[in-house]
Amino acid sequence: ELAYLNEMIVPVDEAKVPVRDRGFIFGDGVYDVARVYDVRPHRLGAHIERLRRCARQIELCDIPSEADLERIVDELLDASGLSDAMLYMQLTRGAAPRKSAYPAETPATLFVSVERVRRGADKFRDTGVEAILVEDIRWDRNDIKSINLLPKVLMGQRAHKAGVYEALYHDADGHVWEGTSTNLFAIIDGALQTAPEGPRILSGTTRRDVLELAERLGYDCELRPLTEEQLRSADELFVTGTLTEVQGLVAVDGTAVGSGEVGSITREFQEAYDELVE
Ligand code: PDD
Repeated sequence: ELAYLNEMIVPVDEAKVPVRDRGFIFGDGVYDVARVYDVRPHRLGAHIERLRRCARQIELCDIPSEADLERIVDELLDASGLSDAMLYMQLTRGAAPRKSAYPAETPATLFVSVERVRRGADKFRDTGVEAILVEDIRWDRNDIKSINLLPKVLMGQRAHKAGVYEALYHDADGHVWEGTSTNLFAIIDGALQTAPEGPRILSGTTRRDVLELAERLGYDCELRPLTEEQLRSADELFVTGTLTEVQGLVAVDGTAVGSGEVGSITREFQEAYDELVE
């Protein structure tokens, strides 16, 4: 398990950043997570594009080029010899005195790591997963994949304590937007529904895959956030994410979704997604 930091490749545990790095002090940075299947990163281009877009949105200076990031990922994967892995990429605003305003030219800190993953998602295929609803205590720019992840940590822990897989964020108007690390889809009367892109959700790469698969499989998709009521009455629900892949939600807050089993349309998407990544 290796890391790229300061233009060097080292074992992950040996990678060190200065304590004044603004990522450490302020959470001043952005990240992305991609999955490697059989040596090939799935949709690396989309992950790199999103990382660079997020970095531009927080006005980071000296953002690495797409070609540089691709080369670093290649080198890391080569050196690690891993074939099934999680790829983590992070850019922070570098080391500087602790002030909100930052020196104009501080070079960004780029950290990339590869870690082994097992195809853990498989174990939920038959049973499905459960979720709880939690208040969306995040900020107004969830489209930026910020390393400020306290809401994810707090709500992820709440899900863990409840013994469920995911916590889904709802707002005061009764809309359910996404999970702590997944996007949410419903199947209602044979059509898909998911929240539209915008500041309320992270535009997931797996969400995009599913939307493309929906087109290919002939399903309509409405881009509208789910209401809590729809959540309770949906025929099927599933969540999507790089590490989650496509998982059927069989209960929310302890109440069964649809039949209480992974739905048949969900299965169709799971199989189509498998083909896409394999
Ligand atoms: N999380 N929504 C949120 C809030 C997320 O953090 C993620 C991903 C997604 C799904 O995006 P994608 O399909 O591109 O993985 C949706 C990553 C995996 C993480 O934080 O570990």
